[in-house]
Amino acid sequence: MQGTCQTTAMSDTSRFSGARYIAFEGVEGAGKSTIADRIAEYLKSQGEVVVSVREPGGTEAGEKIRAVLLTMDHDVAPRSEAALFAASRAQLIAETVSPALARGAWVLSDRTAYSSLAYQAGGRGLPLDEVWTLNDIALGGIWPDVVVLLRLEPDEGLSRQRDGDRIGNEGVEFHSKVAAAFDDLAAAEPDRFVVVDASMPVDDVVGAVVAELGLAT
Ligand code: TYD
Repeated sequence: MQGTCQTTAMSDTSRFSGARYIAFEGVEGAGKSTIADRIAEYLKSQGEVVVSVREPGGTEAGEKIRAVLLTMDHDVAPRSEAALFAASRAQLIAETVSPALARGAWVLSDRTAYSSLAYQAGGRGLPLDEVWTLNDIALGGIWPDVVVLLRLEPDEGLSRQRDGDRIGNEGVEFHSKVAAAFDDLAAAEPDRFVVVDASMPVDDVVGAVVAELGLAT
């Protein structure tokens, strides 16, 4: 996705030059929010315009869908779960992501459709091509330019977690399938993925992401 922004912190030689829509993905407790916030601060310090979003949610309708998805007091069937994540995402793309990209801003997203590929296909066992198509429709074809996969063993991630939700509280077996699915997705799209070892100290993870994205000045 090529923005119209005049400035860029990305070097022209980066394989991601021109990329603006960056996803942060990984298992529970991998540190996505922390790292996305730090990269946002870094880009802003370079004079870039950054819009930070999180999924599910990020819009008024999306936050209501988020509550349905994550509260513990009801069952949600796998296909319903996939459709609700996609609906929340469609709203976020329409209200926030597309307009931000159109004006040349960076969009840093704490989870994206790649989480649905890993959780609803990998974890729940829905067919990957169906989850992909459902999301392609929801996204109107706007997929992230780059996916930063913060890679962590699922049991380590779960042990870092404070409050679980309906999906976070699934057992380690489920989260191992999610982790394996993320690895498979990264292997299938090496040009889109940056894989970083999230077991390192936060400053080292931030440094690795900055270097891998070609953001260093
Ligand atoms: P959240 O509180 O945002 O947790 P995290 O810090 O792990 O991102 O909860 C989101 C939960 O929803 C998390 O368990 C991952 C799951 N999820 C999916 O199953 N599919 C999706 O498409 C997305 C975006 C999240």
